[in-house]
Amino acid sequence: SPYWPGLIEAYRSRLPVSDSTPVVTLQEGATPLVPAQEISRRTGCDVYLKVEGANPTGSFKDRGMTMAITKAVEEGSQAVICASTGNTSASAAAYAARAGLVCAVLVPQGKIALGKLAQALVHGAKLLQVDGNFDDCLALASKLAIDYPVSLVNSVNQFRIEGQKTASFEIVDVLGDAPDIHCLPVGNAGNITAYWQGYREYADDGTASQRPRMWGFQAAGAAPIVTGQVVEHPQTIATAIRIGNPASWTKALAARDESGGLIDSVTDREILAAYRLLARSEAVFVEPASAASVAGLLKVAQAGGLEPGQRVVCTVTGNGLKDPEWAISGAPAPVTVPVDAAVAAAQLGL
Ligand code: F0G
Repeated sequence: SPYWPGLIEAYRSRLPVSDSTPVVTLQEGATPLVPAQEISRRTGCDVYLKVEGANPTGSFKDRGMTMAITKAVEEGSQAVICASTGNTSASAAAYAARAGLVCAVLVPQGKIALGKLAQALVHGAKLLQVDGNFDDCLALASKLAIDYPVSLVNSVNQFRIEGQKTASFEIVDVLGDAPDIHCLPVGNAGNITAYWQGYREYADDGTASQRPRMWGFQAAGAAPIVTGQVVEHPQTIATAIRIGNPASWTKALAARDESGGLIDSVTDREILAAYRLLARSEAVFVEPASAASVAGLLKVAQAGGLEPGQRVVCTVTGNGLKDPEWAISGAPAPVTVPVDAAVAAAQLGL
């Protein structure tokens, strides 16, 4: 049917809900799986983009948040809290508003994109900027959730992972099977954990005949899983994945190793090149962190690590409108013209 009820209804039998669970939904999920023509040409593979910026608040976080807020309501919580580089706070604020819950968010001061800050504020979250990085925010949020009557909705909450695993289901449902390789950006490592869980569940019950190799990519200045060392002062223009001590670190390693995959890093320069390629050639406007999946795929392909002919899905995690700074700074300043066709035509090179 053309009506999409949201991912909890769509995948109800595979999620921890009962008939009496009060589902909180903004009809998230069912995001486009767009064939990537130029990236396919460059790699010799059949590459698709899972466009998660098409979710209600513009990122994949809505998949986890519909579950986390639903369960918070079911359990009788009055308030939720999260640490965030921006997208989790935007999503938590929206779903909490929908459910009538108080939402508290902790963000690293000056390090989240303006659009995400706007979302948290407009949906009525109580927002604190913390004089520290994301890892400090998560430690603080976790402590508050232990000591005060407030539920933590970061991806350490298993219900977040349960919701986010549905992206794998949708991909298999559309393609008819799991892809050979799945690429995605890695920050706190919840999403790679969730995708792997989803692919495993579908393979275990025979819905898919195979499981993909999971290829995760961190920003070079925030790549603790690649180096094996906590990064005290993570740095990258991809603020969404500016994380030095991921909460799901060991689960990301399990996804990598069980799938025969890899976790590598990409530089900010590679991220921005992929960001522009996505916008110009695929017409998909993503935020910089999202482009890490494509940057990583192209990096591995250029190094000879990608056999042609494979089916590859790259998750692009968030909408470009959240963080327009990089779109504007890379483009020439617009020229102002009088209301004059000849002048406009000359400027346009017509
Ligand atoms: N891409 C975007 C756009 C994100 O916002 C995040 C995480 C990731 C990728 C990485 O996902 O953490 O599951 O490995 N953002 C979190 C937040 C940290 O607070 O919004 P992950």
